[in-house]
Amino acid sequence: MKSKMIDENQLRYLDGFRNEENNLILEMETFAVENQIPILDRHAAAFLELQIKMCRPKRVLEIGTAIGYSSIRIARNLSNKSILHTIEKSEDSIKLAAENINKSGLTDKIVLFKGNALELMPNISKKYDFVFLDADKEDYKRLFDYSLMLLKKKGILFVDNLLWHGYAAAARVPKKYKTSTKMVREFNKVFMSQKNLHATIVTIGDGIGLAVKSKKRKKKE
Ligand SMILES: C[S@@+](CC[C@H](N)C(=O)[O-])C[C@H]1O[C@@H](n2cnc3c(N)ncnc32)[C@H](O)[C@@H]1O
Repeated sequence: MKSKMIDENQLRYLDGFRNEENNLILEMETFAVENQIPILDRHAAAFLELQIKMCRPKRVLEIGTAIGYSSIRIARNLSNKSILHTIEKSEDSIKLAAENINKSGLTDKIVLFKGNALELMPNISKKYDFVFLDADKEDYKRLFDYSLMLLKKKGILFVDNLLWHGYAAAARVPKKYKTSTKMVREFNKVFMSQKNLHATIVTIGDGIGLAVKSKKRKKKE
């Protein structure tokens, strides 16, 4: 589904500046459209790459690999000795992601964990500098709690789909999207009011939540 956040003219104008030279990335974008696989919007992916370049994280966790598109875009910006751990539960996606990661030549930078993040995350002990959450909306709240537990202080949390194709802010929502929209709206309230996060939601792609973990704010006496 296309983003409704920015009008088509502006997107076309911005696309005019695009200089992606990696054929694998371009092929994966086409594959995702043709096979209706919901990968990160390309403008949001460019923004994610910039965050990785600026934050220079040593350890990155991605929840929701799909075909490995954002994993590769993250990993190609990691500095030496940095690593991306990415979690995917769908067998079909795991197979495609593994193939794409092999093709990318970034196997030394990406570790693909197979399984449900809700089961895997509680067993991870070492914390991360950067967490990218991009999974099922029904799981977002619980995955968010685990993400916060696994995020170092001053670590960055990057969350996709917080404007949910425009439905988060819409007065009328199609029946098919009612439950997921409710989940996203509830998630946004928690995300924006979390005491130990400095958070914002930006209108890039499908709405990106970006936050830095801080100390818990003390209650005023
Ligand atoms: C939106 S896609 C991820 C797209 C990917 N980040 C990209 O931009 O290239 C979401 C993926 O998360 C996976 N997923 C959803 N909930 C999950 C969970 N609880 N644990 C592991 N994977 C999950 C789905 O199977 C799906 O492949």
